[in-house]
Amino acid sequence: MEFDFNINHIFPDEVTLIGEKSPFRNKTNSRLLERNLQIVIDTLGKRSAKAQQLTGSITTFLKSQLNNHRLFILKDDCANNGLGCVIGFLKVGKKRLFVLDRDGNHNEMNPLCVLDFYVHESQQRKGCGLCLFKHMLSMEATKASHLAIDRPSHKFISFLKKHFNLWATIPQVNNFVIFDGFFKNRSDMVRNSSSGSDKISQFRPLSRAVSDGIIKRNRQSDHTVMSTALKD
Ligand code: ACO
Repeated sequence: MEFDFNINHIFPDEVTLIGEKSPFRNKTNSRLLERNLQIVIDTLGKRSAKAQQLTGSITTFLKSQLNNHRLFILKDDCANNGLGCVIGFLKVGKKRLFVLDRDGNHNEMNPLCVLDFYVHESQQRKGCGLCLFKHMLSMEATKASHLAIDRPSHKFISFLKKHFNLWATIPQVNNFVIFDGFFKNRSDMVRNSSSGSDKISQFRPLSRAVSDGIIKRNRQSDHTVMSTALKD
């Protein structure tokens, strides 16, 4: 994706992380850079939504800031006569979820989730997605099997199988997909010392009645969020 301004002024690295704080705070032309960043992110969000046949963008500059999402942006610095171009992006963020395990427990967790992922059509199947994904795993100090994925497309499912040998084995009741190994060796799990048992306590298994009630409420609020997103 080419723009009529210099991409290299906004994204210094081949893969640049845009987090909750503005990267331009101490720069003299920060307003202009921020406006251009907004144009790029909003454009990426629209392209991704179109590629996934969604009726509205799930990624915008404002939503990403409000929700503390982290965006990894891949660029080609030489394209467009040196102005550079944007090849794709990957968006992650933590979400409070109820995750079903093999025993049918709903576990209350706060895992890192992949929320949006897009590579420009002209650059797909050339390894750009993998480059973004590996960079994210390294920056977030996690592994692919520990992520929850929000409504993965068939291309993304194929990508995860090919590059990370991941298979979704436990169907979930929400839109998120988890893979074999999700519950294994998580660094965000702590042992429950108060009970003296070996049970992992960072995620709490809930009784069926309690979790069904929470899931129902979540579905209703999900619906509200989606309707808001679709109106944008
Ligand atoms: N059909 C099927 N599988 C595909 C396709 C396709 N058209 N394109 C990529 N893949 C998968 C395949 O496994 C492919 O391997 P193969 O070519 O040997 O079959 C592998 O991805 C290629 O890996 P990369 O080149 O590293 O990935 P790429 O740069 O193509 O990026 C991505 C993958 C981001 C999924 C890209 O295809 C894309 O933008 N798709 C459209 C948008 C989309 O579906 N995004 C995911 C939405 S779900 C979410 O974000 C939570």
